[in-house]
Amino acid sequence: MPPFLMTNLYFCPIQPRMDEVDALQAEAQNAINNADSLKSLDDLRVAYLGKKGKITEQLKTMGQRSPEERKTLGAALNKTKQAITAAIETKQQALELEETNARLADETIDISLPVRQEPRGAIHPITQVIDEITAIFADFGFTVAEGPEIEDDFHNFTALNIPPEHPARQMHDTFYMQGTDEKGDPLVLRTHTSPVQIRSMLKDKPPLRVIAPGATYRCDSDMTHTPMFHQVEGLVIGKDIHMGHLKGVLQDFVDAFFGKSGIPMRFRPSFFPFTEPSAEVDIGCQKGKDALVIGEGDDWLEVLGCGMVHPNVLRNCDLDPDEWQGFAFGMGVERLAMLKYNIPDLRTFFESDIRWLQHYGFSALNIPGAVTE
Ligand code: PHE
Repeated sequence: MPPFLMTNLYFCPIQPRMDEVDALQAEAQNAINNADSLKSLDDLRVAYLGKKGKITEQLKTMGQRSPEERKTLGAALNKTKQAITAAIETKQQALELEETNARLADETIDISLPVRQEPRGAIHPITQVIDEITAIFADFGFTVAEGPEIEDDFHNFTALNIPPEHPARQMHDTFYMQGTDEKGDPLVLRTHTSPVQIRSMLKDKPPLRVIAPGATYRCDSDMTHTPMFHQVEGLVIGKDIHMGHLKGVLQDFVDAFFGKSGIPMRFRPSFFPFTEPSAEVDIGCQKGKDALVIGEGDDWLEVLGCGMVHPNVLRNCDLDPDEWQGFAFGMGVERLAMLKYNIPDLRTFFESDIRWLQHYGFSALNIPGAVTE
């Protein structure tokens, strides 16, 4: 056998030649260079250096080699192993850096963007105070009743013992709507929340304990009057209801609302066609230069009208006055809000000035309830 064949057979197939070792290294280096992820790089590490990897397999054959080969090929394989290990390490660092850079680019936060603006609206003091009043009367066992702002003559006047041509109609500076109701009677913007008394008594059987908050309208505009304002009506109907109950409920309400006990109250004899006797109620306060202080000083501010429900009103609602009695009151929401929150000028409530609302308005998270000392 010619010597070159001998040589070939001797090296082939189990023993790599030096150039094959070089080729293996070049192949590995190339694959490592082209690895595009840490995962594929690790696959290459296993393929070459793992327990059954190409280099490992070759190294395993060293035991069967001649001392000569062990020296040359073994050394070459070890060098290749080191080279591949180093190449993998370098590539790993490069891939990790690439990955970090990609994440940094991806997760960028543009801190120059403007922050989201604070909401500019707020709960209007009127809404807040109506909620507060409602919460207190709910504690007293009252339910809330409602009626329309465009009222008919019967509910706003006649049923409340204010017949046509009665001089009390002039007291109300009524806004009349165009057109009439089915009976041909005028439609009006309700001048008070008292028509809701009538609606409640006609709808539900007594005993009754209701409040009716809402907007009311009168053709009147000056420092202390606006054409639209708010009232909370109250009505209690039962057997044996008397003026003492009325005074007690109102005192408890005023104390709960202002968070002080024994707020001075003054019941002045007055006249309303739908109550007898009738009274107007003032609260004791101190009118300072820029602040109103409640429950102190010698000034008085009128906050509500009230009285015992007139027998004619009970009759108009099909109730027998010998069997049922009750009291009613109507309070001015703006007045109460001004007193409680030190708002000096009534007209600012309806100027829609956002700066005013930001100053006097309430957060939506401010839950109304009785104020306690
Ligand atoms: N409705 C009356 C007003 O607007 C107030 C009131 C209500 C008086 C209930 C007595 C009873 O002035």
